Amino acid sequence: MSRQDDLVERGKRLLLNNYRQAPVVMTRGEGCVLFDVDGRRYLDMAAGVAVAMLGHGHGGLADAIATQARRLLHVSNLYYIEAQLDFAEALGRRAFRGRAFFCNSGTEANEAALKLARRYQAVAKKQPQRVELIAFEQSFHGRTFGALSVTGQAKYRDGFGPMVGPVRFLPFGDTAAARAAITDQTCAVIVEPIQAEGGINLPPPGFLQELRRRCTETGTVLILDEVQTGACRTGTFYAFESEGVVPDVVTLAKGLAGGIPIGAMLANDEVGRGFEPGSHASTFGGNPFATAAALYVQRAIDDLRLLDHVRDVGTHLGSSLLRLAERRRPKTRGARGRGLLQGLVVDVDPGDVVAKARARGLLVTVAGGNVIRLVPPLVVTKGEIDEAIEILDAVLEEAR
Ligand SMILES: Cc1ncc(COP(=O)(O)O)c(C=O)c1O
Repeated sequence: MSRQDDLVERGKRLLLNNYRQAPVVMTRGEGCVLFDVDGRRYLDMAAGVAVAMLGHGHGGLADAIATQARRLLHVSNLYYIEAQLDFAEALGRRAFRGRAFFCNSGTEANEAALKLARRYQAVAKKQPQRVELIAFEQSFHGRTFGALSVTGQAKYRDGFGPMVGPVRFLPFGDTAAARAAITDQTCAVIVEPIQAEGGINLPPPGFLQELRRRCTETGTVLILDEVQTGACRTGTFYAFESEGVVPDVVTLAKGLAGGIPIGAMLANDEVGRGFEPGSHASTFGGNPFATAAALYVQRAIDDLRLLDHVRDVGTHLGSSLLRLAERRRPKTRGARGRGLLQGLVVDVDPGDVVAKARARGLLVTVAGGNVIRLVPPLVVTKGEIDEAIEILDAVLEEAR
């Protein structure tokens, strides 16, 4: 039995059965490449589900983490934390100005956003009857009860009812339905600028603008979930920047600290009134360790001119996938995405494509049931993208 087989056996015995792990154990990485315990090389177009934005084994990030670890790891939010303030300030220089709450994951950031919206309506605006949340079919907002309750895919909610409510789900992109459903009795609308887990679904032009307009008219809180689309993934720091809208509340996580767990919820000053001391908290949220890493990533975004790079290689990835989709019809049905959040729609078993790609040394994931998702580290090169496309081409050639 190889060391890898042995570890996989241990995993099956020791862990709860809630993941579908591939029988692989990664031990180290360099840039966009990972190596498993048996020394096999993989080109990583998954980035730990859109997380490792600076790539693996990044020396500068590792040094920033080590320096902070020697100085101070954790003190809680009983005190102010300098790295947290520096990070909040750095975020404030991006396209959303407001105040920050830090947590440890995307679902927690959304949980905080939903709680803030409820308390803003009930306490700050004295309208406690405004509790209805509006969300969208095919959305994904996380696994805790609040975030799960606004996730518009039954498979994630199966067996966990009753959910937190009331929540109304609307078809994503249906401007008329949204216009009718959002009233002066709605608490909040939560929406991803591009539905990522749901299959890389881009909204039709004007949809997010209409949500913004209607939320403003009715005093409804507009929450944009940028957990997957944010932190430069689509070629702007926030995906909403290319839609010409600014939300009241925005949530971030995933790549924000390059792989160290962190989540953030930012709110404008008006909606931020919903929280008072004691309203919400997180023991680890924004601790010195996580925010030192996040601050390093913020500086790297500018030093590496990462946004320009993402736009450049993202265009290359998008057009390469479109060409691949054309070449491999009818096994494929097109490609879509923005920046380095891209998907290839397939008409063959997507799980099989993922497994066969892995066997050839390429890591990709499935989104939305029939989409092969590519979300590489943001430092990916055009050469690496070409290698990924070649492998996918060979896999699709074989696929039945
Ligand atoms: C849009 C969106 N929101 C929330 C989440 C949940 O984030 P986490 O897994 O960090 O809780 C995800 C995770 O994939 C996501 O894509």
